[in-house]
Amino acid sequence: MTRSADQTQAGRGRVERPNAATYKEAGDTLRAGGLVAFPTETVYGLGTDATNDEAVAAIFEAKGRPRFNPLIVHVRDADAAARLVVFDDRAQALAKRFWPGPLSLVLRRATDCPISLLCSAGLETLAIRVPDHPVGQALLRTASRPIAAPSANPAGAISPTRAEHVADSLGDNVDLILDGGPCPVGIESTVLDISGETAILLRPGGIPVEALSKVIGPIAPAEAGTPHASPGMLASHYAPRLPLRLEADSVRADEALLAFGPSPVAGAAHTENLSRRGDVKEAAAKLFAALRRLDQPNLTGIAVMPIPETGLGAAINDRLRRAAAPRDQKDRPQPGTYLLDKIESIVGSKGLITDAEAMAPHLNELRGRFQGHAQCIVRPASTAEVAEVVRLCAEADTAIVPQGGNTGLVAGGIPFEDGRAVVLNLGRMNKIRALDAANDTITVEAGCILHDVQQAAAAADHLFPVSLGAEGSCQIGGNISTNAGGIQVLRYGNMREQVLGLEVVLPDGRVWDGLRALRKDNTGYDLKQLFIGAEGTLGVITAAVLRLHPRPRERASAFAAVRDLNAAVDLLGRMRSAVGDAVTSFELFPRLGIDLALAHVPGIQDPLAERHDWYVLVEITGGGGGDLQEALEITLTTALEDGLVPDATIAASQAQTDSFWRLREIMVDAQKSVGGSIKHDIAVPVSAVPAFIARASAAVSALIPGIRPVPFGHLGDGNIHFNLTHPEGADKAAYLARWEEVNRVVHDIVTEFSGSISAEHGIGRMKVEENRRYKSAVEIELMRTVKVALDPKGIMNPGKIVPR
Ligand code: TXA
Ligand code: MG
Repeated sequence: MTRSADQTQAGRGRVERPNAATYKEAGDTLRAGGLVAFPTETVYGLGTDATNDEAVAAIFEAKGRPRFNPLIVHVRDADAAARLVVFDDRAQALAKRFWPGPLSLVLRRATDCPISLLCSAGLETLAIRVPDHPVGQALLRTASRPIAAPSANPAGAISPTRAEHVADSLGDNVDLILDGGPCPVGIESTVLDISGETAILLRPGGIPVEALSKVIGPIAPAEAGTPHASPGMLASHYAPRLPLRLEADSVRADEALLAFGPSPVAGAAHTENLSRRGDVKEAAAKLFAALRRLDQPNLTGIAVMPIPETGLGAAINDRLRRAAAPRDQKDRPQPGTYLLDKIESIVGSKGLITDAEAMAPHLNELRGRFQGHAQCIVRPASTAEVAEVVRLCAEADTAIVPQGGNTGLVAGGIPFEDGRAVVLNLGRMNKIRALDAANDTITVEAGCILHDVQQAAAAADHLFPVSLGAEGSCQIGGNISTNAGGIQVLRYGNMREQVLGLEVVLPDGRVWDGLRALRKDNTGYDLKQLFIGAEGTLGVITAAVLRLHPRPRERASAFAAVRDLNAAVDLLGRMRSAVGDAVTSFELFPRLGIDLALAHVPGIQDPLAERHDWYVLVEITGGGGGDLQEALEITLTTALEDGLVPDATIAASQAQTDSFWRLREIMVDAQKSVGGSIKHDIAVPVSAVPAFIARASAAVSALIPGIRPVPFGHLGDGNIHFNLTHPEGADKAAYLARWEEVNRVVHDIVTEFSGSISAEHGIGRMKVEENRRYKSAVEIELMRTVKVALDPKGIMNPGKIVPR
């Protein structure tokens, strides 16, 4: 092939009207081994010189097409065909009747056939057709050689019936696109195999099979066992991104409708009618363009009205069934050759994981509730590499799932089971770019481990205050994307409060450098806020400027029993009025939590001598100068005298403080060790926590008598992990099967308190439907609007947060 490296991308993908000059250029390009997209009466083809091996290979590459899929060779007339294949009487008869036209004949290759063996993909046969489109015909004349041409779309996607379809999906991979307007037939050629005794219909298409059998007699359907005899038979093919629902007799407001006939069902978000008058020929011509228009990222699916099987209806229904087929990984086109090679050329072999075993840790989440599939795990080493990979995926319409330390609890970083996505793991981007002690800021890359950032801050005598259970392995990019909370939110706020600036790779591959280190900046919309907590659905965060705080000089902590939950809230108020914002953590424990910890975790001691229903862990930190220990003591003593606090112990050493925190950390594991736990990550106003816990506990006990609530967590900021252990002796699996039923009861009560159903873990995959249920239609609509504005192709972590 003569296409050279210095032929820049800029000139590629040009769309030109056919005229003498562009025909000449197209012919020259083809003869030189380039790729020219051109219209036929069926669909646009991606053409090249069929006798040039390298040129044909370039087609497979451009389409990301599995190598086993042979190509149709286009010739000017039956005589030209007869020079390439064994052209028997049946072929003659069919050619006479249907050529030029939408019929491809599969025949045995002639002994001296000059056509590249790649076109046959290892078969003895070759598919030949004579297109009936003036542009296709003219091009065959100027090229003066057979043109190999599959439909000009990425493998597995919808075929193109307009020049702009080609430009949109394959643009950069094509040297020239000849624009001949919309394709009149609109559906691909019928592929008929007459290489053997029995004629076999490999693909229904532009000529109805009934018409063919009138000329050559009976035609057999393709055998199920020979899937690659015509790889157009891949079960999942011609697929838009949205799922299809066939034979629909009604439609939801968040679905698109592919209608047929005079009375389309009402209520769709967007309707395309293939033929008002119920004409399958008209419908075929409009099919692919209509599917493209309906395939919008803000909708949940495409409902398809029934279409008759007669005439071209058979071909239409064939395409629709394939588009609706489950997108099982093995049926998907194997992008290996194209996309993965290109990704590897960007990130190198170190940056690409395709081995199943090495991919596994990136595809499963911590709790084992979700197991995804992906084409590969990409681990770029720089923002530029991230940008290039994203641009490539955007061009190939490939979903990207950004991933940090994969410690999330709602499967936001886990791809779906269809295996179409690419996981973009930021772990190699783990440099601390700068620390500005005078400005109290640190600039870090997204893959930095949270603990390492805390350490870097400490080394400069500063504090990075976000602290949570997974800090030894979670990454800053993930912390920002989920707006992580943790145990010091009361004092320092969430991750959002720490972020001053961001660097983000947008869904089209552009880089937004918003790495500003300012506390004041009122220059318009605060765009960084959009990406914080967006769980990678709007872009890939690659770096951030974070706030640092003075490192506390003093620390005092106590473990106190409280009379009841109201007393706990009361104590929090007293602490804050005594020492102000020095109250850093205020964590709640129920007695059952302590009991479970004592029974199941070795080395744990009950901090207090007697049993009480509720406890709090209070931690006060400060800049030195004040005697925090004393303030803590005085406040607790008064609370004791007033009957709020029956007993308390103040840590006398760091070891004792650590033992309090250890108890807090093992609350989760302690529950795991007794069996099934149904979990909630809720927030209500701090003042409402006692009423919420009382009501929700009563409600779940009414639903499942004997259920054991273990509400614990961040009382200081109103975020309670309302976890429910199964009744003693109950069957764990049967209990866990009631997860959603229990969620419903608890979340309904949360909503009555104007609370949040996900206070610090996010929405991910797990709570998408739950979120849709509890947020107003207006709020979901606004979220969709933002999503579509930033990610119009819907490739950035699709299906997470915003319902599809
Ligand atoms: O209408 C059409 O046929 C369009 C225009 C551009 O000609 N082309 C088209 O090509 O749809 P493509 O590659 O997207 O689909 C051709 C189908 C594939 O399913 C392929 O497997 C099958 O024809 N095919 C090609 N050569 C074959 C062969 N030798 N034996 C069996 N099947 C073959
Ligand atoms: Mg095709």
